[in-house]
Amino acid sequence: MSCSLRPVGRAQRAPLERLTAATGRFRPDEVAIALELLDDSLAGDADYRFLGAYDGDTFVGYACWGPTAGTQGTYDLYWIVVDPAWQGKGVGSRLLEAVEHRLRTDNGRLIVVETSSRADYAPTRAFYERRGYARAARLPGYYAPDDDLVIYLKDLTHGVLARATS
Ligand SMILES: CC(C)(COP(=O)(O)OP(=O)(O)OC[C@H]1O[C@@H](n2cnc3c(N)ncnc32)[C@H](O)[C@@H]1OP(=O)(O)O)[C@@H](O)C(=O)NCCC(=O)NCCS
Repeated sequence: MSCSLRPVGRAQRAPLERLTAATGRFRPDEVAIALELLDDSLAGDADYRFLGAYDGDTFVGYACWGPTAGTQGTYDLYWIVVDPAWQGKGVGSRLLEAVEHRLRTDNGRLIVVETSSRADYAPTRAFYERRGYARAARLPGYYAPDDDLVIYLKDLTHGVLARATS
């Protein structure tokens, strides 16, 4: 399917809230964090960058990322979310590729993604793994007693991970 990628503006605040909640993956306090980051970004905070995916004027997904404080060229991908009605159609892949492209041109080196070990996150983990993200760490019981934190890394320069495994 063809969608276009454009900035996320104030007009997308309510659709972003609806779409994030509609995935059923995020608690209300987590949805509130996504909105807070959007507000910070719209207020000019360069630590949080957003890119939206649109079908015509309809907002169908977004990614949010930013530089990781205290690092050289490491970025966190904070959110990547696609409206459930639009999942599995290539929107998430286009968003991820666009974020990676921007980071390469911004001298980005590493992308860090944090996700959950829960069974309902298996499609999300598969999504990252098939796009070159390597499972780098697992913190048992991080989110809840039976919900681990899984950290993925993508090395945009093929430097640090290649060295770590050689
Ligand atoms: C993960 C997510 C962003 C992927 O976006 P998407 O537009 O569905 O992804 P694409 O269509 O480009 O790619 C689909 C791929 O993702 C996987 N996938 C993940 N969730 C899926 C879903 N609900 N439906 C279909 N495919 C899904 C498929 O296995 C498929 O893999 P393949 O292309 O390698 O065979 C999206 O499914 C989503 O918003 N999930 C809920 C929120 C979430 O978990 N976000 C990440 C943590 S912040």
